[in-house]
Amino acid sequence: MNKLLTTLFALSVACATGLALAQTAPATAPAAAPAAAAKPAAPANPKSLEAKIEMCVGCHGIIGYRASFPEVHRVPKIAGQSAQYIAAALKAYKTGDRKHPTMRGIAETLSEQDVADISAYYQDLGKAGRAPLAETPSRNPSAQVATLLQKGNCVACHGANFSKAIDPSYPKIAGQYDDYLFVALKAYKTENNAAMGRNNGIMGAIAKQFSNNELKALANYIGSLDGEMETVPESRFHRN
Ligand code: HEC
Ligand code: HEC
Repeated sequence: MNKLLTTLFALSVACATGLALAQTAPATAPAAAPAAAAKPAAPANPKSLEAKIEMCVGCHGIIGYRASFPEVHRVPKIAGQSAQYIAAALKAYKTGDRKHPTMRGIAETLSEQDVADISAYYQDLGKAGRAPLAETPSRNPSAQVATLLQKGNCVACHGANFSKAIDPSYPKIAGQYDDYLFVALKAYKTENNAAMGRNNGIMGAIAKQFSNNELKALANYIGSLDGEMETVPESRFHRN
């Protein structure tokens, strides 16, 4: 893993240098020249946004890309998710409140500035192409799921359309991949396991009220809804 990350870093720094050169070219218009002359020397190796994101697109930028731990599921959509939640999730991986080994290893390499830049970037990624979401869910739950939603009071925090949480550090969940939602919900029930599970007082108490079959029914319904998140393919990132 470490070796892979080092390689990725080396690659992304190489790419970023190329990108940075390409992108600064139009900005050096005559009007900007005096300001540029007054600027202090840039740090030796500034990490561009492109370099920071390069580490993520290999998984979060490939439509249908699957992870196999702790079971096969699609890698979550993060483009369009709220920035404060992305930052909160990255922090939870970093501190170990979320024990997922891969994301933990990645989050540990990010500085606070990296987290802030990356979270803001993903919140806006793809936004321009998305129609505004209706206030109510795009389809009604079955009677069984309606009862489960009521028992867990899910709308109270995640919003009537499951995409408008009461707090920006709470996730949008409408339209997230159902297999990922199921894995995430089960993780809140997992305790005393060094390699998996999520410590979260709020969702822990909620998830533990449900059987895995019930969590699956909830995940299937919420995942089937229209939402504001998507997987934006890597090629689109490079084209922009
Ligand atoms: C090797 C594949 C891989 C790479 C590379 C990767 N991720 Fe992830 N990411 C995952 C998987 C798998 C999960 C689900 C983890 C879990 O179950 O908690 C995840 C979860 C997340 C989550 C939580 C999503 C949610 O809805 O709670 C965020 C945020 C995230 N990743 C951001 C990033 C960022 C930012 C980068 C780059 C700096 C990155 N990831 C790189 C595979 C990856
Ligand atoms: C009291 C507020 C509250 C209620 C009620 C609530 N949630 Fe949550 N939910 C949260 C918070 C906060 C998080 C983020 C926890 C974290 O940081 O891991 C979360 C996270 C989640 C996640 C993980 C999303 C991801 O991208 O990883 C899922 C899935 C979820 N909730 C589904 C539900 C469902 C289904 C219900 C009803 C059965 C429900 N929640 C009820 C506050 C709530």
